[in-house]
Amino acid sequence: MRRKVVAGNWKMNHTSATGADFAAGIAPKFQTSAEVVFCVPYTNLWCVKEAVKDYPIGIGAQNLHYEDSGAFTGEVSADMLLKMEAKYVIVGHSERRAYYNETDETVNKKLKKAVSKGLTPIVCVGEQLTQREQGITEDLLRMQVRIAYMDVDAETALATIIAYEPVWAIGTGKTATPDQAQQACACVREVFGVLYGTDAASKIRILYGGSVTGANAKDLFDMPDIDGGLVGGASLKTEFVDIVNAVK
Ligand code: PGA
Repeated sequence: MRRKVVAGNWKMNHTSATGADFAAGIAPKFQTSAEVVFCVPYTNLWCVKEAVKDYPIGIGAQNLHYEDSGAFTGEVSADMLLKMEAKYVIVGHSERRAYYNETDETVNKKLKKAVSKGLTPIVCVGEQLTQREQGITEDLLRMQVRIAYMDVDAETALATIIAYEPVWAIGTGKTATPDQAQQACACVREVFGVLYGTDAASKIRILYGGSVTGANAKDLFDMPDIDGGLVGGASLKTEFVDIVNAVK
């Protein structure tokens, strides 16, 4: 049985003060068997962790650098995240691919670094609207997964979580239908199986992300290959409680 995961991606929202208040306010309301994660801005990691320390909530960052240290102005390393007691880190989010030159190759390096340090990377893949319209969604997903997991052994691969996030659904209010999301997540699981075998494929957790709401979460999370969600906009609202509690 794969335990479901519901992760909030706060993006560049909340100061440490407002973030800690918000997190403390919703934490007691979760009634779920899901693994709950808040991926917050670096500056909020410590405060939010402290704010929810009495609850089973994991804290994560939204990016990391693949080197341990050095002349990389503005970057943050895995060790720095670990000192803040972060347990998760988003890697390869489409906004980072679009605005900050994240590529499948840097995703591969970051995934390896994160796992080698004991962080759980949430590895994002997903097609753009034009790619879906051209009918190349599954080809693209196969390529993104293959490059992200290049030279990664099965044990390392199973220490990750994958998030399928169609770019056209992120922040747009246009959610993929449960069938579209299921089909893409099944494709990701299939390619993972080609790389690591069917047993590994049955264990890897694959999330859906893109305009998940309190109203659509249950239908998405009930699909056989969808193991939870990566939630942006709605993770900033109390609606996130409904999304988390959609997992009984
Ligand atoms: P959204 O964002 O839920 O606002 O569409 C999802 C994400 O970017 O992870």
